[in-house]
Amino acid sequence: MNGFLPLVVDQALAAAVRAPSPQNTQPWRFVVDGPRIDVWLDRDRVLAVADPAGREARLSCGAAIGNLTLALRVNGVRSRVRILPDAAEHDLLAVVSIEGNTRPSTLDRRLTEAIYRRHTNRRPLSEREVPASARASLRSAALGEGGQLEFLDASGRYAQVSALVRRAETELATDPDFRAEAAQWTGRSADCPDGVPTTGFGPPADVPGVVSLRSSHENRSIPPRQFEQDPVLAAVLTRDQGAAADVRGGMIMERVLLTATAEGLATSFLSQPFEARSTRARLLAAFRDLGQVHTLLRIGYGLPTRMTARRPAPEVTTVRSAPKVPAW
Ligand SMILES: Cc1cc2nc3c(=O)[nH]c(=O)nc-3n(C[C@H](O)[C@H](O)[C@H](O)COP(=O)(O)O)c2cc1C
Repeated sequence: MNGFLPLVVDQALAAAVRAPSPQNTQPWRFVVDGPRIDVWLDRDRVLAVADPAGREARLSCGAAIGNLTLALRVNGVRSRVRILPDAAEHDLLAVVSIEGNTRPSTLDRRLTEAIYRRHTNRRPLSEREVPASARASLRSAALGEGGQLEFLDASGRYAQVSALVRRAETELATDPDFRAEAAQWTGRSADCPDGVPTTGFGPPADVPGVVSLRSSHENRSIPPRQFEQDPVLAAVLTRDQGAAADVRGGMIMERVLLTATAEGLATSFLSQPFEARSTRARLLAAFRDLGQVHTLLRIGYGLPTRMTARRPAPEVTTVRSAPKVPAW
């Protein structure tokens, strides 16, 4: 018998909006229509300078979809995701259909719990080694979503890619348009519902590291600190390219991030080489044999840092007709 359990959908949407997004722009909108939840790109929240093609915004929407379906599943609701093939032209990126009941696994529960702890950590990480077992679970998290996670030290791309990160950071840090856009979204107060608050910034590095985090996310009012010398760097990849692959890439990325959180690992992003003109093509070429590279992650052990706020789910959701989920 079908019943109405809108609370399950409310909770799933609250999980969806915890997804990461560049500069915490939260470029998503949801439309609930009975058993269907449409996921839309909010074009007004795509970073025009850093992300003109909306690639990072689509990754973020993919991450939100990953959280949404995981939170549905943990509440016993099975759903199917249809990513629309022409996601580059249209802002409707995917349709999540509620299909029936399911029994959540222990892993579903662990990862759902991680949704509310995952955050971007821009502080120095410890030199403690990430064990092979944790690397293996991160890799299988990506594989389970139909993607791949490539550890750069293992693949021989470490030196090349970290050099691209440093070069891109230098280019972006001196680009007035990029700086103006970053300034618009960063340094906000901790209770601001979007953008990156100063509490989310890291300290400046006292000596240049093998990679550079974004100088726009540096808190210069705290003393410089030494960053880890050779952080674990990993790339999220799909075989396919294009806008639909970006959405899928976001789902894979979020699964990796949640798995890392559940493993007690801290994560942050290194997106500068995707955004700088002089490095983007070279970065894509460096991974071309594997498919499409979507994001670069820095992974390691660190003290938890502050979570950032989100716009509440009802603010980004339109309900056309009451959410419909099958009752047990
Ligand atoms: C596609 C993508 C790219 C990102 N790139 C960067 C980056 O280059 N540097 C950075 O410090 N954070 C980056 N972030 C992290 C966001 O700034 C962060 O997710 C957002 O501020 C919300 O904070 P939270 O992750 O702590 O919840 C990126 C996030 C996404 C989804």
